[in-house]
Parts: sequence; C-alpha cells; structure tokens
Amino acid sequence: MATQSLPIGLFDSGIGGLSVARRVMELLPRENTVYFGDTARVPYGSKSAETVIGYSQQAAAFLESLGVKMIIIACNTASAVALKQVQSMVSVPVIGVIEPGAQAAIAQSRSHVIGVIGTEGTVRSHSYQHTLMELAPGAHVYAQACPVFVSLAEEGLDHHPATLIMTREYLAPLLARSIDTLIMGCTHYPLLAPSIQEVAGPNVTLIDPGVATAMQAHATLAGAGMLNDSDSAPRHDYYLSDLPHKFIEVGSRFLGKPLHHVHRVMVDDLTKSV
Ligand code: DGL
Repeated sequence: MATQSLPIGLFDSGIGGLSVARRVMELLPRENTVYFGDTARVPYGSKSAETVIGYSQQAAAFLESLGVKMIIIACNTASAVALKQVQSMVSVPVIGVIEPGAQAAIAQSRSHVIGVIGTEGTVRSHSYQHTLMELAPGAHVYAQACPVFVSLAEEGLDHHPATLIMTREYLAPLLARSIDTLIMGCTHYPLLAPSIQEVAGPNVTLIDPGVATAMQAHATLAGAGMLNDSDSAPRHDYYLSDLPHKFIEVGSRFLGKPLHHVHRVMVDDLTKSV
C-alpha cells in the first residue's frame, strides 16, 4: 500500500476522542483512519501521569502495529503528559492536541487573559499553561478542572439545568479574571459548548483544540507529501478495549455520524505490545 493511503491513527482514553476524529474527517475527508479508544481503562483524567504514559505507549504501539502513517493523540490528558514519550518510541509523526489548542487560543485572544478547562490530570500537568506562556510570555492563564463535565457530555445533557449549574460553578473563578478566550481542553467539552458559551457570555471565544489539531495534521501530512489523494471512499475503523453499553449511540453523537467497523482489542494484548 502506498504511504499516502495508509490510515491516520488516533487514540483516546475512550469515546471522547471521537470529537477530534470528527474534525479530522471533516478537514481531511479522503483520509483513512484507525481510532483506538481505551474504554476498558477510561478515565485517564483522574489517573497518575505514570499510568497515563504507560497506557499511551501501549496505544501508540498498537496503532503503529496496524501500519498508520501518523498518530494523533486525541486525548488532552494523554497529550498533556505523554506526548514526548510517545514521540520517542514510534517512527511516524505524532501530534497532540495541546500545542494546536494553545496556538489557536493565542491567535484568537486580544487580551491574552486565557482560561483553560480540562480534567484533573490535564490541569495538574500545567501543560496548557506552560505552552501558552511559551507562545506569549506576557499571557495570564487560569485553569480549572471540570470533572463532572465528562459524565454530563456522555449523557447528552447539554443545556440541562444540571449542566448549567455546574458550568456556572466551574467558570465563576475564570470569568472573575475577565478571560476573553477559553480552551475546552478535554475531548468531551465541545459537546457542551452551547451551555459553556451561554454561561461565559458573548465576549469569550471558545477554542476547540480538535479543530486546530486537524489543521496541524493536515499541515504535517502536506509537508511530508503524505496526503491521500485517492478518490475512493475512506475507511474508518474503531478499536476499543471494551465494548460498553450504549457505545454506538454515545460514540455516534461525538463523531456526528454513525459508527461502523467497530472491533474489540483485549487489554492483555495491548500490554504485551510494549
Ligand atoms: N479524553 C479525556 C481528555 O480529553 C477525557 C476523559 C478521561 O478522563 O479519560 O482529557
């Protein structure tokens, strides 16, 4: 198979990364993709960095064994703590969501007073904070973990009163700092964007790092002459370490279209791959 027609690999702690896969498929509609979701070991956001690094290395090794031409770490938590470790162990280009998301925020923000919301692991890693400060040393960055958002997004509760209450609670300290830009630094949060925007108000620009990551994937492949120019319909495969109840329904909501070609991969096989 020509390198160009090899699939793009994406991985995430579970189904949330389908919100990033969606952006990649929109921007790169000719590309074949392979998605790995670690549904047996989700969530990553509350686990230690060491554990998430180990899981991420297994996911990357699995995708590489399937013959992908690049790897996108769709999970914010894994991108925050494991990007370098994954880059150093595989032979294909690897990108995460943090740097593209931070670049998009700096480009959008006028005041450079920026908020970041994410999992406990992402916020604790300071990865967004450091990247934003490197890009714009005078920036002021305020971060807030919003753990309950993951369940609210999976339950499809955007605009539910419970979501609005939690959004007000989580955003209050950031809005008190007069942020003008807010990075939705977790795969699930774009599903709650209407509630987040309503609470944040019209003067705050929301950043979905998945959009900027798809653009970076495009630039990386174009730069390497690896864009797929085939006219045949792309194939999208989904590998999961567990097949949870309601996966197809919830996953289709994150992806924005129906899911086909779903396969199971055993955790034991993943742990043997590294
Ligand atoms: N995918 C994770 C992220 O973007 C959220 C879910 C989890 O905690 O595993 O950080």
